[in-house]
Amino acid sequence: MRPTPGNRDRRVRPDRFAGTHGRGRPELTGDQGMAGQVNRWLRDWESMMDGYLPGRGDLMMAGMQTAETVLGRPPVAVLDLGGGPGTTARKLLRRWPSSQVSVLDIDPVLLALARAAARAAAIRRADLGTARWRMTAGGPYDLVLAVMALHYFPEGRIRQLYPEIRRLLRPGGLLLVAEPMPEQASPNRRQPPDGLGPWQRWWRALAGHPALAQPMRERERVLAGQKSTQFVADLDWHQAAAWDAGYAESWLAWRRDDHALLAARNT
Ligand SMILES: C[S@@+](CC[C@H](N)C(=O)[O-])C[C@H]1O[C@@H](n2cnc3c(N)ncnc32)[C@H](O)[C@@H]1O
Repeated sequence: MRPTPGNRDRRVRPDRFAGTHGRGRPELTGDQGMAGQVNRWLRDWESMMDGYLPGRGDLMMAGMQTAETVLGRPPVAVLDLGGGPGTTARKLLRRWPSSQVSVLDIDPVLLALARAAARAAAIRRADLGTARWRMTAGGPYDLVLAVMALHYFPEGRIRQLYPEIRRLLRPGGLLLVAEPMPEQASPNRRQPPDGLGPWQRWWRALAGHPALAQPMRERERVLAGQKSTQFVADLDWHQAAAWDAGYAESWLAWRRDDHALLAARNT
């Protein structure tokens, strides 16, 4: 852990953004009769993500406990960056039913599922690839999470995201980042595995379902040209990025093998 920043005055009031909630807009055709199918997709998503991030349930528990300890209470407002189909938001709302939880993602299909998975959550569509995402991010927040979302971006963009996120945090607010952070890895890009992996199989199961026709078309348009960089760096790299971004302190909140949860507290 790096030392706290002594006399550096970083007590900047976070910006406030109006944000768009988009709640109540049905996006799955035939929404009403879809509950069983949607639940299966969400359950399969969880199994798939457990494969990519072993111990994900423990990580979430450690993250929520860390947030309660740091904040001294449940968070009033939480933002899940790259929150996908809302299964993390659903867990957050189960533990903190009074919290205002937002899910932000670029993917229209995943956000349509998030509307069903976490009905009380605000759904925000934005591209984290440029600083403009903050215009629809809402805030300020007590807690921001990025679970397996940062590795989509190049190294330089991830460095920029740390301060951009900090500006959305209340003073003393917390950022939690879950990523592969192997011990002493120099920053690099992992090669995606050849063939049809769990990710492609999950998407293949959704393809062609009439309820998803409209968000699938939208997805194709929005994600054209987007590709994960599969960026990987060690914990030190992420702590340095948090330090440079002005967080008061950062620490390892959880680890299993190569996967870690970094906690970074705003000044
Ligand atoms: C591996 S998934 C993790 C989803 C979720 N955090 C979870 O753990 O279930 C990565 C997520 O990042 C989102 N994402 C990728 N690129 C993005 C971008 N440019 N802007 C916003 N979200 C993005 C994807 O759509 C996807 O939902």
